[in-house]
Amino acid sequence: MPPDTVSPLSNPRLAALDNLANLATRPGADDIRALFAADPARAAQFTVSLDDLSIDFSKTSITAEVLAALHGLARSSSLNLFRDRLFDGAAVNATEGRAAMHMALRDGPQAGFTAVLPGGRDNASQIASAELARMHAFVSAVHEGIIRSTTGAVFTHVLAIGIGGSDLGPAMVSEALTMAHGARLDVRYISNVDGTYFAAATRGLDPATTLIVVASKTFVTQETAENARAARAWLTASLGEAAVAQHFVALSTNAPAVAAFGIPVERMFGFRDWVGGRFSLWSPVGLSIALAAGWDKFADLLRGAAAMDSHFRSAPFAVNLPVLLALVGIWHTHAWGCRTHCVLAYDDRLRRFPAFLQQLEMESNGKSTGLDGLPVPHATCPVLFGEPGTNAQHSFMQLVHQGTQMIPVDFILAANPDHDRPEAHRILAAHAFAQSEALLRGKSLTEVEQEMAAKGASATEIAAIAPHRVFPGNRPSVTILQARLDAFSLGRLIALYEHKVAVQGWLWGINSFDQWGVELGKALASSLLPDLNPGAEDGAHDGSTSALIRRFRSLRGET
Ligand code: F6P
Repeated sequence: MPPDTVSPLSNPRLAALDNLANLATRPGADDIRALFAADPARAAQFTVSLDDLSIDFSKTSITAEVLAALHGLARSSSLNLFRDRLFDGAAVNATEGRAAMHMALRDGPQAGFTAVLPGGRDNASQIASAELARMHAFVSAVHEGIIRSTTGAVFTHVLAIGIGGSDLGPAMVSEALTMAHGARLDVRYISNVDGTYFAAATRGLDPATTLIVVASKTFVTQETAENARAARAWLTASLGEAAVAQHFVALSTNAPAVAAFGIPVERMFGFRDWVGGRFSLWSPVGLSIALAAGWDKFADLLRGAAAMDSHFRSAPFAVNLPVLLALVGIWHTHAWGCRTHCVLAYDDRLRRFPAFLQQLEMESNGKSTGLDGLPVPHATCPVLFGEPGTNAQHSFMQLVHQGTQMIPVDFILAANPDHDRPEAHRILAAHAFAQSEALLRGKSLTEVEQEMAAKGASATEIAAIAPHRVFPGNRPSVTILQARLDAFSLGRLIALYEHKVAVQGWLWGINSFDQWGVELGKALASSLLPDLNPGAEDGAHDGSTSALIRRFRSLRGET
């Protein structure tokens, strides 16, 4: 079948999804403990690795037969052809007629990636490399004090303004790469339009030593535009209008809007529309990462992601990490009806990783219309949430262990810490492994009763309390373990999830690269804004919204 006509919307694909659900109805299909009892070495069979990075999915109910069915789904969906089209720069984002070529940002000009555009082909690798070279020169000049403030002072701080993909990735990565050893420049991120946020981020900052980086693919996002205006006012109040050209930097695809704001062309770093917002941290949008962590780390981040790209592109599906991670998720969604997914990184440097993944996964695959424009006849993306371990254990893990739903968990851990307290790291790791073991093993009523009796509890006490102390067990998890978390391995980890998301979207028959679902709220906010002005006429809203607007104005004394 020619690649451009490949479609995952075939009946064989739906039949393969149904087959998964059927496999789950077999007696004992959820008994993961029985699988380990039958084959204590199953971890060897259900662990895949790439260098030091491994994914152990043996603590799921996946068997050889289930895995064969999952690979059957991949085959019947022509996943291999989708992967080829993705790397060929085809317009996989069909509703916007765009390629998804963020991989070209991380593999150097020799990679030769192209992106297909309505008007022809972009040499994506060359375009990306040229812009990265400009960024490198800029970052070095700032770090070396060659580029300075209008006052002649060196820049010590950065105010990074952006939202969604123009914030979550850079903020997450900057924190991950600077937490252990500090930052080259102190970068403060501002995303929300809440003025408190702006006030907090600028508190104690000196405009004379602050570089202001505005990241916005479109350069029309309302929240970012408002924060950029606030930053401009904050800067010019002490340094005058002339400081704008010297203190502002723009990261965008929209050169005219950047110029209209007054940012000179040499202070704009551009990219193309074949880079989606949530895939843009590798592009100029990642400038704040390089300013915070240094160029070498940013380059290592790109190299790590490129290593995962090359693995994803060439490894057979049987040992392909993003493909297997995607298939495990599909098993839980389709066979077990899981509607939530928990990600627990036992690593504080990855504090913001769940927030980043929320956009990556839910903005990509939170869809109910298929590529054929028809309603999708099955579930798609689960709700994703997470926190660092062990903090999560002291908040929501109660529900994951004993709640009424099955919530698959991804545990993420580095074997070696980036600090000099090995005992603390061993404790952290012990908790990560113990959590997955507890989810699997559970604790039966008999075990609880025997334990309580051994401690001298009375029969009445045992009868009253024991049921509350039972853990069902057989709750699935995946453990992602690597040697250490550094710039390279972080890039690799992020790209692992990026490709997982693309694979899942394809297998669900949806477009992972558009986000029409964010538009309605944006449009309504714009039309509703004037109705909040004092004395405004009531707009045309539903009864609840009208009442809320009136109440809001009344509470402000503006009726
Ligand atoms: O929330 C929708 C969205 O379009 C995201 O996809 C994007 O990352 C974010 O807004 C920010 O957009 P921009 O970078 O154009 O300001």
